Amino acid sequence: MKYLAVLGREPQISLAELSALYSDVKQTSPNLATFTTEEVSINRLGGSLKIAQAIEATPLEFLRNLPEGKITLGVSDYSKNASRRSATTEALKLKKILVRHGRSVRVVENKDAFLSTATSLHNGLSGKNDRKIELVKSNSNWYKVVGIQDIDAYAKRDQARPARDARVGMLPPKLAQILINLCGPLPKGSRILDPFCGTGVVLQEALLMGYQVYGTDLSERMIDYSTRNIEWISKSALEETFAGRCRERREPSPVKTGARTPGSEKALFEICVGDATSFKWQPPIDAVACESYLGQPMSQIPSDLKLKEQQQECGNIILGFLKNLSTQIKSNTPVVIAIPAWLRQNATYERLKILDDIEDMGYNVSKSSRDGLLYHREKQIVARDIIILRKN
Ligand SMILES: C[S@@+](CC[C@H](N)C(=O)[O-])C[C@H]1O[C@@H](n2cnc3c(N)ncnc32)[C@H](O)[C@@H]1O
Repeated sequence: MKYLAVLGREPQISLAELSALYSDVKQTSPNLATFTTEEVSINRLGGSLKIAQAIEATPLEFLRNLPEGKITLGVSDYSKNASRRSATTEALKLKKILVRHGRSVRVVENKDAFLSTATSLHNGLSGKNDRKIELVKSNSNWYKVVGIQDIDAYAKRDQARPARDARVGMLPPKLAQILINLCGPLPKGSRILDPFCGTGVVLQEALLMGYQVYGTDLSERMIDYSTRNIEWISKSALEETFAGRCRERREPSPVKTGARTPGSEKALFEICVGDATSFKWQPPIDAVACESYLGQPMSQIPSDLKLKEQQQECGNIILGFLKNLSTQIKSNTPVVIAIPAWLRQNATYERLKILDDIEDMGYNVSKSSRDGLLYHREKQIVARDIIILRKN
């Protein structure tokens, strides 16, 4: 089936996420991409704002075939040169004909050529109700929305966590989903390692996506935070899905004694202390998704000297980790890491120059990572630079 995605704030990252999961991904405009798949769930995609499915019929035929009752209709026009006016005209034209055919229709008012995610969500146009429809026009093609990014659910997963720490950075849950998805399609139940798990955002999102998770971190305090957060998410969101399957974590184990009890059934999550540059992880590791150490938090652009010092420190940890990992994972295992890049006076970000060293260690570096997949808010000093690797 053919779908259309409305890409998020960082379109190149959203596009890379779709390309990692689906076929025939084509960017059709700066913020739109089409792709083909059998099924798609917006709740698993961190980088797309809306997902719409191609409709076979004309929009009018499609609307006329909706079940009896009042229709709520929104129209988003993403065509080139579209305006609030063009979208409103389309919606009112459709309403007029439908009313003539005896249907009752409410049109959701456009403030722009397309409805914002919040407007679509609050009018119930997320595709769950048969008669609350958002049609999307992209040039001469029409789609119906089948999913809208649930902003409230992300905010809740982020803010309601019992253990948070601004000093290690707050990885947004949707970026954690993107890192996981960039590993490509993984069988349900695959085991994902985050060797810099911090407060556990990647672990939490991977669990919610149906994977087993394995988190390690240098800091005892972070292991405690991750454990509390994972226990919280396991008890709330996972309760129904995984009732009774979550096992108690083992006590944080010192480096080198992190082995699971031999012969025991694989736990849904395992979290323990470990230095990523030397730890011996317990197999299996089906994929690695993480945000590495990002250096010191910064509120102003660093001096050249400070930058050099930070680049050295972060570069050593990241390269040390990848070297240690390379002997412990199978060929073709995906490894996706968000590493730091620093804002400079000329308003560009300086990336760590480590991709050639990484290739020399026996990893394949994706082209999109070479081109740069930077995630940051406006004027943020430390950006996240996403690198996508596979063990040769
Ligand atoms: C940017 S934070 C990751 C935050 C995490 N994504 C979260 O959800 O909170 C980086 C983490 O790397 C850990 N760290 C730093 N050096 C490390 C090392 N050599 N081995 C393992 N963890 C390390 C820090 O303790 C910190 O928790």
